[in-house]
Amino acid sequence: MSIHLSEAVFGYDEKKILDKVSLRVNTREHIGILGASGIGKSTLLKLLAGLYEVQSGICEVAGEREPVKIRKKVAMVMQTPGLFPLSIRDNITCGHPMSEDKIRDALRAAQLEEWVASLPDGVDSIVAERSGNISGGQAQRIAIARAIAKDAQVILLDEPTSALDEETARAVMKTLEYLTQGKTVVHVTHRPETLFGYDRILELKEGKLVARESEKYI
Ligand SMILES: Nc1ncnc2c1ncn2[C@@H]1O[C@H](COP(=O)(O)OP(=O)(O)OP(=O)(O)O)[C@@H](O)[C@H]1O
Ligand SMILES: [Mg+2]
Repeated sequence: MSIHLSEAVFGYDEKKILDKVSLRVNTREHIGILGASGIGKSTLLKLLAGLYEVQSGICEVAGEREPVKIRKKVAMVMQTPGLFPLSIRDNITCGHPMSEDKIRDALRAAQLEEWVASLPDGVDSIVAERSGNISGGQAQRIAIARAIAKDAQVILLDEPTSALDEETARAVMKTLEYLTQGKTVVHVTHRPETLFGYDRILELKEGKLVARESEKYI
């Protein structure tokens, strides 16, 4: 068992967003989560990422219940990459010691190797999102390279391609396949077609997770 949520409750102030949500995800299982905008999908992923703590119930991820410990065991890729205005290297290592080989492998898997090699400062180039020196697809690939290098057992994806045009999204999907291979995955999306081959698809509705019975893309 990789993820175990039991009667998890979470809300902001008075507003209850997750109302006794239960979920069990086996190791290496791939789960898709759909649901209307504003229903609480990102909130659910942030609980699973150890960024928030359940107000009651159980949230156990990779055998850990403490948010600080959970954070070490998961890697998350969000809709916007959220890069630091630092070098590509720092954005991948997040300040942790990491071998050159590991950084290079992550860049290659995220299909960034050629582009990085073409930069005057290579992996030490500073990336400034929105400054124009990096495209949305490249920024998202750096976030994916960071997740690959972390080599976490649990991968959380929050609409990782929804801010990209269709062609870039398709290319980024390929690198996500590499990232998620052999891992436990929870993937939030508005587009069921990105969940092809997933083991289960659930929907977040009125604070609860419910099964989606028939899915035309699956
Ligand atoms: N930090 C916050 N403080 C207060 N309310 C918040 C906060 N973050 C989210 N909310 C509210 O909680 C609800 C759920 O938000 P959440 O971002 O989890 O939805 P979502 O399902 O991911 O939506 P979307 O599909 O648009 O990304 C929304 O009503 C949102 O306004
Ligand atoms: Mg969201």
